[in-house]
Amino acid sequence: MKKLRTASGIPYYNHEDSQTVGPRGPVLIQDFILHEKMAHFNRERIPERMVHAKGSGAFGTFTVTQDISHLTKAKLFDKLGKETKVFLRFSTVGGEKGSADTERDPRGFAVKFYTEDGNWDLVGNNTPIFFVKDPKKFSDFIHTQKRDPYTNCKNPTMTWDFFSLNPETIHQVMFLMSDRGTPYGYRFMHGFGSHTYSMYNNGNKRIFVKFHFKSMQGIKNFSAIEAQNMKSQDPDFAQRDLVSAIDNLDFPKWKLNIQVMTEEQSALLDFNPFDLTKTWSQKQFPLIEVGILELNRNPKNYFVDVEQSAFSPSRIVDGIGFSPDRMLQGRILSYPDAQRYRLGTNYELIPVNACPFMTQNYQRDGAMRTDSNGEDCPNYYPNSFDDISEDISYKRPVEELASNIADHYWRNADGENDHYTQPGLFYRTVLSENEQKSLIENIINAMSSIDGPKRKEIITRQLCHFFRVDMGLGMAIAKGLNIHIHENQPFIC
Ligand code: HEM
Repeated sequence: MKKLRTASGIPYYNHEDSQTVGPRGPVLIQDFILHEKMAHFNRERIPERMVHAKGSGAFGTFTVTQDISHLTKAKLFDKLGKETKVFLRFSTVGGEKGSADTERDPRGFAVKFYTEDGNWDLVGNNTPIFFVKDPKKFSDFIHTQKRDPYTNCKNPTMTWDFFSLNPETIHQVMFLMSDRGTPYGYRFMHGFGSHTYSMYNNGNKRIFVKFHFKSMQGIKNFSAIEAQNMKSQDPDFAQRDLVSAIDNLDFPKWKLNIQVMTEEQSALLDFNPFDLTKTWSQKQFPLIEVGILELNRNPKNYFVDVEQSAFSPSRIVDGIGFSPDRMLQGRILSYPDAQRYRLGTNYELIPVNACPFMTQNYQRDGAMRTDSNGEDCPNYYPNSFDDISEDISYKRPVEELASNIADHYWRNADGENDHYTQPGLFYRTVLSENEQKSLIENIINAMSSIDGPKRKEIITRQLCHFFRVDMGLGMAIAKGLNIHIHENQPFIC
């Protein structure tokens, strides 16, 4: 029989009855077991993620199926059939940790590849684009998705006010309001690295790259009404669906593809390839298959592996690089900062975040240092005692920048302001007729909740964006909102 013990290992006998003076008397302060139980319980919660607080995760494997070693020297891609362990966390974005899985929202798709050259995190969404294109706008945007400071409720007026004042949001708004905004759990959706990253090969030749994970289960979405119903039937639908599939050995899989653009091509395009509100045409930049990601092991303990997992776009490995994408640059700074706050300075020692191969550096001490802390090895560099040295083969290629003039360049200046062509194509060529109908219905329902003195102004401003995307789309939404527009008298935008 195992003994019941305190956290410091002391066996004790009573876990249920406090020590009291007589059977009906007051509790004694010396019952330290009682204190320990209550105090630890009071500290069980850690801050939830500022965004993407509700999520599900699983371990798995990435297997290379096509040789791309001419494009990158990243070791995880260096051999056909090579397997790399991964951890993937899916999430919704705006809701709190206890919110429903079927809320209309983008879904997070964050993968940690445990490579021999360190952990590579690809922290993306189920959408190839995003609402904003400058990191300075992220906190304002997220405030509109969270609770109203006065009512403490979600507020569609502030959401649509923000969308209507920021035309660059329209592409992602179209995606969000379609049925892809309510995927059927996490298995039936694609994942995207979304940003433009770069890769370089052994000759240090750099190319730009986008990552696409295509669901091998296919795409399946809830309709708005089904998603709404599921919220009350099973708010944890996506969590349950993922755990059950893996428990039943029905391992979900995604095919990883890349799109590749040369540096020369990037300079000649008629749009900014580093703008996160735009996609790259797959006709011009066809998908190249790279490998298959399979999820095949549920974490034994949710808190340990899922809640404490920490992903950051700053974690890239040799052979993979950043790009001038402003949003990516902002995220490089933001995530480790958030994680030092959320999990503490030594969060990379937590097993799910730790590199299973090797870490050697001169970081020491800090709260919750649970490894050997470098033992008695030197804690400074250079030194005359250890044999750790910088390896020149890991030097990244030099980068040539397009300008040497610093300023606050307007993100939507001429040449950066075609917000409507790609959403128009999405509406007309990607969505089926039924999907177009759901999109229109979902937008009408969502915009009907805009209220207050600025209602008309916000609706008019947002309608202008829909008209610019597609006249038919704008007309259908206007009709649904009971706004009458005469055919010969164009809507003034
Ligand atoms: C400048 C823009 C952005 C900022 C400042 C930002 C910031 C953050 C922060 C602070 C977290 C919580 C991190 C943590 O506590 O571990 C987070 C989570 C996340 N973000 Fe962003 N974000 C931005 C844009 C994006 C974009 C464009 C994507 C997708 C393409 C994205 C995908 C995610 C995902 C998937 C998570 C959850 C990761 C996990 O599962 O732990 N974010 N973001």
